[in-house]
Parts: sequence; C-alpha cells; structure tokens
Amino acid sequence: MADKQDLTNSRDKIVKATNNCNVVTKHVDFTSLTCVRCFAKEIKEEEERLDVLINNVGVFCLGKERTVDGLQATMQVNHFAPFLLTHLLSDLLAKSAPSRVIFVSSIGAFFHRLTLANINNPDVSFADGLSSLLVYYNSKLCNIITANGFAKKLKQCRVTCNSLHPGMTATTFLWKNQLLAKPVGFFVQGAEMGAQSSVFLSAAKEIGDASGKFFVDMREHQQPRVVTDSQFCEAVWTASEYFVGLTDEERSIK
Ligand SMILES: NC(=O)c1ccc[n+]([C@@H]2O[C@H](COP(=O)([O-])OP(=O)(O)OC[C@H]3O[C@@H](n4cnc5c(N)ncnc54)[C@H](OP(=O)(O)O)[C@@H]3O)[C@@H](O)[C@H]2O)c1
Repeated sequence: MADKQDLTNSRDKIVKATNNCNVVTKHVDFTSLTCVRCFAKEIKEEEERLDVLINNVGVFCLGKERTVDGLQATMQVNHFAPFLLTHLLSDLLAKSAPSRVIFVSSIGAFFHRLTLANINNPDVSFADGLSSLLVYYNSKLCNIITANGFAKKLKQCRVTCNSLHPGMTATTFLWKNQLLAKPVGFFVQGAEMGAQSSVFLSAAKEIGDASGKFFVDMREHQQPRVVTDSQFCEAVWTASEYFVGLTDEERSIK
C-alpha cells in the first residue's frame, strides 16, 4: 500500500501533468472497514460534490488471510470494502447527480466459482494457488453484481453505475501474480492504456445514462450468465450487507 511519501509523489505527478493544483490525496486501507468508514466520513465532511467514484482497488494473492474484521482478505479489499464505501458515499453522489460510479472488475469474473457458502471462505477443495485465483475471480464477479445492484437502487437519483475490464495491464498487481503474469506477460498493455476504460466511463458523453452495463475496450460486453439469476444476486447483496455490518443509517437507499 502507498505510504505518505508515495501519496505526495503521486499528487506531484498529477499536478505536473495537469497544471491543476486542486488535487488532494488521502490514505485508506481497505483491509479495515473502520478505516473505510473514517475515509467516507472525511470525504462527506470536506467535499460538497462527488461526480465520479471509481472503485479501482484490486489485490490478488492474499490467500487464506483474514482481515482485522475477520473477513477473507481478498474478498474484503476487492469487494466488501468498495461495496461499503459506495453505500456510504451514495447520498453525496445523489446530491451531485447526474453522477457516475464505476467498478473495475475483470474478465476473470467469467471463471468464478462463487457460492453463498464460499463468499467469505476460500474453497479448501482446491490447491492454494488455484484457490487464490478463484477467490479473485469470485471477488470480480461480486464487483459486477454490486455495480448492477447500485445501478437499480440509485436509478431514481440519476446516479449511474457500470463495471469494466481494463485489459491485461503491466501493473504491480500483475507482476506480483506469477500465475497470471507468466502466460500473459508478453501481451500486456501499459498502465495508461489500462486506465482508458475508467476514464471513458467516468467522462464520456456518449455513455449518457447507461447503467448496469459491463464494458471491455470501451464497448458494452455481455456479462457472466449468473448475473441473470436475480435471487442469487440478491442473496450476494444481503450477505455482503451482513459481512460489512451495514446499519440502516448507512444503507444507500432505504
Ligand atoms: N492489471 C491487470 O492486468 C488487470 C486485469 C483485470 C483487472 N484488473 C483490475 O484493475 C484494477 C486495478 O489494478 P491494477 O492492475 O491497476 O493494479 P495496481 O496498480 O496494483 O492497483 C491496485 C490498486 O489497489 C490499491 N490497493 C491495494 N491494496 C489496498 C488496500 N489494502 N487498501 C486500499 N487500496 C489498496 C493499490 O493502492 P496503492 O497504490 O496504495 O498500493 C492500487 O491503487 C483492480 O481492480 C484489478 O482487479 C487488472
């Protein structure tokens, strides 16, 4: 995770590239739901508007690790924490409408093995490496289910919510993950290209009020078949609310 110096360096790079000095960076650790709640509180206290929320966070190889909240670490960082953060910021997004939420998912969601039993429990019937990969894919399916869920819930408020696959990209994320890096290492794009889909979904006029869609290469793409199972998606949503300990006050739409 980035430390204070990394944050200052990132801010300096953005200011230099854009000539915009109005850039604020903040530290938030998604392995702690308390930290997510504090971060959301600060944003709501300090910002009058929130036009775009990009849930870009993604980790891969946290294995069977548990967080301080007792949740499976990869699932918490990739899914439970962004799920909670989006709930906590949805009133600010609604106040700033029309506004947009984006979940950076992965085409890997198509290879998921998500069940209600394993959402917070890696499947022990698989070898460790494979189990990590499947938990990652499960978490990326949850991103799509969550984006679709918020798309429905926030429709009345004119907040759109979509998900995307950024393409195989040469980032720290990929190089840390030998299982993925080895077979695809020669075919990956640079980080700037990898960010293009997020920028497009955040800013492009032609997206209009499209919501609940999944994008690859800036084009709408079919979604994993399981997302048409509304009972399953609702159960994933309810389980996620339970695991993050969502209170009535925090719920995005009552
Ligand atoms: N790279 C690919 O080929 C690929 C393919 C498909 C999907 N994706 C998805 O693309 C997204 C971005 O990944 P990337 O490739 O750009 O990798 P990356 O450079 O490693 O970015 C991952 C981001 O997650 C943040 N993060 C990691 N642990 C965190 C924690 N505990 N709390 C808060 N933030 C944390 C990192 O923050 P720091 O900068 O502070 O470490 C970083 O900003 C992910 O959702 C990933 O699943 C990537």
